[in-house]
Amino acid sequence: MFEGPFGEGIIKRGKNKGLLEINTYDIRGYAKDRHRTVDDAPFGGGPGMLMKPEPIFDGVEDIINKQKLPDSTPIVLMSPQGEPFNQKIAEDATRYTDIILICGRYEGVDERVRNHLATREISIGDYVLGGGEIPAMVVIEAVSRLTVGVVGSIESTQDDTFTTGLIQHPQYTRPSVYRDWSVPNVLLSGNHLEVEKWRRRESLKKTIRRRPDLLKTTPLTDDDLKLINQLKPELG
Ligand SMILES: C[S@@+](CC[C@H](N)C(=O)[O-])C[C@H]1O[C@@H](n2cnc3c(N)ncnc32)[C@H](O)[C@@H]1O
Repeated sequence: MFEGPFGEGIIKRGKNKGLLEINTYDIRGYAKDRHRTVDDAPFGGGPGMLMKPEPIFDGVEDIINKQKLPDSTPIVLMSPQGEPFNQKIAEDATRYTDIILICGRYEGVDERVRNHLATREISIGDYVLGGGEIPAMVVIEAVSRLTVGVVGSIESTQDDTFTTGLIQHPQYTRPSVYRDWSVPNVLLSGNHLEVEKWRRRESLKKTIRRRPDLLKTTPLTDDDLKLINQLKPELG
């Protein structure tokens, strides 16, 4: 599952440059019986199967020992019950040299994995997927593009939506007129100060319209607050 997405784009570039290393492990490889069983029926009955604790504990402990990972290495269980993933969590994650992500399957994992192995539980959104692989890829890609050298210029990530605490301003490229739609004049003016002012204003506008909740935690300047007051009647 990981080969396609990780064989392209920024992840491939980061791997080729030696900035990223992504190792995938098949939990079945840590099963003890000849059928390589990793699941079993839930105690107390109910539908579906659960992932057994032993292969997951054995696998994670084996990886930690073989790779000599520090005790501080986060062991993250991908789970819809977890903390909602966001840009802040992705930024914090860049300070670790190693992170272990556990991908569940079936009806989920034995609760002891959650309670006694994982140091954190992360959800990529309020919906349930069939497995933790796609959520793990989402986390890996979001963290990787914040790793210096992986994206062409790290500055390009610094005015991203959420990184600034706001929705990003609108962006345009050539042609300056496409069909009947022109690029705002200010962007063609060459006046950097005016361009910056326009971008901040548009960014605040979009945030007020689409994600006013973000403004509660975004550091705002006095000029921003003035602008928000001016924009309120305009935005209704
Ligand atoms: C079908 S789900 C199990 C859901 C579980 N029965 C529950 O209600 O919490 C199987 C696996 O997919 C992964 N998964 C599903 N949705 C996810 C989400 N929103 N975020 C992160 N991982 C998710 C988890 O690893 C989970 O163990």
